[in-house]
Amino acid sequence: MRNVTKDNITDVFTAYLGDDTDPRVREVLGALARHIHDFAREVNLTHEEWQVGIEFLTRAGEITTPERQEFVLLSDVMGLSSLVDMLHSKPEATSSSVLGPFHVSNPPPLAIGGDMKRDFEGEVLLVEGVVRDSDGAPIPHAEIDIWQTAPNGLYSSQDEEQDIHSFHGLMTTDENGRYAFTTVRPVSYTVPSDGPVGDILNAAGRHPWRPSHLHYIVSAEGYRNLVTEVFPDDDPYLDQDTVFGVRDDLVMTYVPQAAGTFPEGFEISGSVDDAYSKVSFDLILAKG
Ligand code: BEZ
Ligand code: FE
Repeated sequence: MRNVTKDNITDVFTAYLGDDTDPRVREVLGALARHIHDFAREVNLTHEEWQVGIEFLTRAGEITTPERQEFVLLSDVMGLSSLVDMLHSKPEATSSSVLGPFHVSNPPPLAIGGDMKRDFEGEVLLVEGVVRDSDGAPIPHAEIDIWQTAPNGLYSSQDEEQDIHSFHGLMTTDENGRYAFTTVRPVSYTVPSDGPVGDILNAAGRHPWRPSHLHYIVSAEGYRNLVTEVFPDDDPYLDQDTVFGVRDDLVMTYVPQAAGTFPEGFEISGSVDDAYSKVSFDLILAKG
């Protein structure tokens, strides 16, 4: 095509795709070009703005390492990661939510009733529930990979003071699909905002906070893996999660419990001097 115009450039792009282009590549790339072209036309994108975008992507590339993935963070704060999650969430299962960058491989085993907080101080939180199928039947021997921030709002991989496995644990449900552990109540925290994505948040008048949460990856043979989170219903950032991860069915009440005798079956045992909280959160898996 010799006469490319601002109106036909999208069709020209499609015409340039090779005949043997994989159909899915054709669909995805074609739609991407269409939306990019429509976007530029809609906002009448200037050269200066285009340059800002290129510089942003360059800085995101420069800051990205195996530990710091600025492009995923960009996807998170733009709502793309959550949208992709929701597009593939099964209605009969617990909603999925963002994985985030702080999961570690080979988490240490955590027995049912185990204590994930080790020597950390803070309000004790007792977490328990059952992994079920979509008919409500318990799933025995499901694996739950659990992680959260320390009381200082940092994940182990962000904090030199912490062992890499602190606040990470891998639990297997019992014959009745039950899981249970103690920890300290997670805190609200900010996503990394000292890079180019932080500049976008600033420019948009947005903050970098996430409501406090526990992360879970749940897997069981014959079922789809579930990547999700649980949030307390009294967190101040619940309605303004900067990565759009909150779903109604993931919001639970952390019920205050009086100091006194701790329930049996936990590593923390006997009498507890301070009040603690308890949250019950069942996890429903879709058949895979
Ligand atoms: C997280 O919840 O760990 C997280 C999610 C998205 C971006 C940064 C952190
Ligand atoms: Fe998190």
